Parts: sequence; structure tokens; C-alpha cells
Amino acid sequence: MDQSLNDIIQQLQDIRTQFEKEIEACSGAEVLEALRIKYLSKKGIISGYLALLGKVAPEERPLLGQQLNELKSLAQNLIAERVEGLQLSHRTHTFFDTSLPGIKPLYGRKHPLRVVQDEIKSIFTSMGFRIEMGPELESDYYNFEALNIPVNHPARDSHDTFYITDNLLLRTHTSPVQVRTMEKFKPPIRIIAPGRCFRKDAIDATHYPTFHQVEGLVVDEGINFADLKGIILAFAKKLLGEDIKIRFRPSYFPFTEPSAEYDFSCFKCGGTGCRICKGTGWIEISGAGMVHPAVFKYVDYDSEKYTGYAFGMGIERIAMLRYQIDDIRVFYENDLRFLQQF
Ligand code: DAH
Repeated sequence: MDQSLNDIIQQLQDIRTQFEKEIEACSGAEVLEALRIKYLSKKGIISGYLALLGKVAPEERPLLGQQLNELKSLAQNLIAERVEGLQLSHRTHTFFDTSLPGIKPLYGRKHPLRVVQDEIKSIFTSMGFRIEMGPELESDYYNFEALNIPVNHPARDSHDTFYITDNLLLRTHTSPVQVRTMEKFKPPIRIIAPGRCFRKDAIDATHYPTFHQVEGLVVDEGINFADLKGIILAFAKKLLGEDIKIRFRPSYFPFTEPSAEYDFSCFKCGGTGCRICKGTGWIEISGAGMVHPAVFKYVDYDSEKYTGYAFGMGIERIAMLRYQIDDIRVFYENDLRFLQQF
């Protein structure tokens, strides 16, 4: 051994001073990496001294080992600190760099079905209607029985129902809210009830197992079919413009008598016939009619004193016509390219 322990320790001291000077001056990631290689890599300065350990006298080894380890950890720690510092300052930099273009936040927006539903609601509330809501999980009684559709009634066939239990189901229409409202309040009644419905329909361009309806109900003394036509016409004009025409066709619903289906003149072609109205000039909207006395009986209304009308409408249907959408599935696929158009 041609160097004394003291010499070596002095050299380590110098190396430490030199390293500290270099790292102090170090300004970037590349220089830092070069520094790491110079001091800490396998062939680096500190490793070179580690090789000396085997050559010094056994009693000198602990002290030299300790000195070397200290130097090594110091170098490692200082380099790690600087690396972290560089990353941090890089981050702070980006954050405060006012010359960078801004990042446009992604806005949420109303779903087209919600847009249409809100518009329908505001038209009817402007005509004195209140909003009522009913549950989506409904009992057989409200969905069918109290609407004059007893068990085994053929009208149940057209409602492909999701049954939860024998008695509980996902409502197939918003008409049960008629019954719930009449149970709660005495006439006069003037409400609409928007909401979600469910039917076990196979999915295609015009059917989906869930969809939305708005129910309307007006009950008072002296209400007649002309009132129903008047309100539907006023609504259609507010929604689609003064030129719109309506028509009623005889139909059948167990909870209304007489019953009708009503159409709007095609708002694409104005009634001359086009692809949207399949050449007829008319677009079918939904059903309506005068509340059946049997329904009044369920809610304990005197049908000698009161009469009323009810109507339904499909929100998807109106949204599809309004925006010329030819496939109902797009409402439920949550494709941003579709949703961002509204
Ligand atoms: N609930 C019916 C359906 O879903 C639509 C309907 C028809 C509602 C006549 C009414 C009505 O209020 O009077 O097919």
C-alpha cells in the first residue's frame, strides 16, 4: 500500500469539494447525467476508490469504508435532489407559461331528449299546466288496472312489460301518473307528467327498450273534446310554428272514451308529402281522448260532475322529427360526436 489512509481520506475530501462545486454549477438534465456517470458509474471516481478497500490494512478498512459510503450517499442524494428539482421547475414552468395557448375545457351540455322535454314543459307550463312526476318502478294497479286494463285485457299485449315481481313492473307509459295525480288532488286538474318508460321491445331504428313520454291530463266541470283539440293545436303551434295543422283519427285506448290518435302536418314538407312523412303529409304523434268514467271510478271522482281529457306524446319521436334523426339508438349510445351537435 503506497498511500497512507490519511492521504486517501484527504483525497476523498477533495473529491467531495469538487463534486459539490460541479453539481452547484450544473444546469440541466444532461450535465447532471454526465456528473452521475463521472462519479457514480461502475468506472466512476468513487467506484475506483471502493476497489482500494481490499488493499488497505484490515484495521483501516472500517474507517475508509465509512468515508466512502458517506461520499457515495452524499453524491447519490444530491443528484436525486437535483433531478427532482429539475422536474419540478419544469412543471412549474409549463403551468405559468402564459405564452402557451389555452386548453379549452370540455363543456357538458343538455342531451337532445332533455332539450325537447324542457321545451315541451315550458310550453305547457306557459298554458297553466303543472308538472307531476311518478315512479318508474310502478305497480300493476297504476300501470294497468286503474287505467281500465284488467288482467287478461288484450291491451296488455301491446305493452311488452318488464315485470319485476307479479305486482311490480317498469312502467310501460306515463299514463299511471294520471291516476296518482287524481288520487292526490281534487279537480280542477291541469298537469303534464314527463318521464321515462320501458318496454321489452327488440331494438331497431324506431324501438328501444327505454324511451320517454309526456302525459297530459285536464279534469274539470264542462271539459270537452274541443278543449283537447284546442290545447294540442296551441301546443303544436308553439313547438313547430303557426303553419302547423293537426288532425285526430278515431282509435281505441281502454282509459279514454272516445279515443283518438293525433297527427301533426309534416313539418318537413308542410303536408305535400316527403320521405319523413312517407308521402302522407302527416306525422303520427300519439294517443288522446276523454277520460273514461271507469278511471274516474277508481279515483273516486264523480263522472256526472266532472269530465276530462288526456293525451300522450313520445319525446324521442318529436326529437327525431325536429332534428331529422332517423335512428332512435343514437339517443342512447352516448357518442360525443352526436351529443356535441346540440
Ligand atoms: N299511454 C298510451 C301509450 O303509451 C298513450 C296515450 C293514449 C296516452 C291515450 C293518453 C291517452 O293519455 O289518452 O300508448
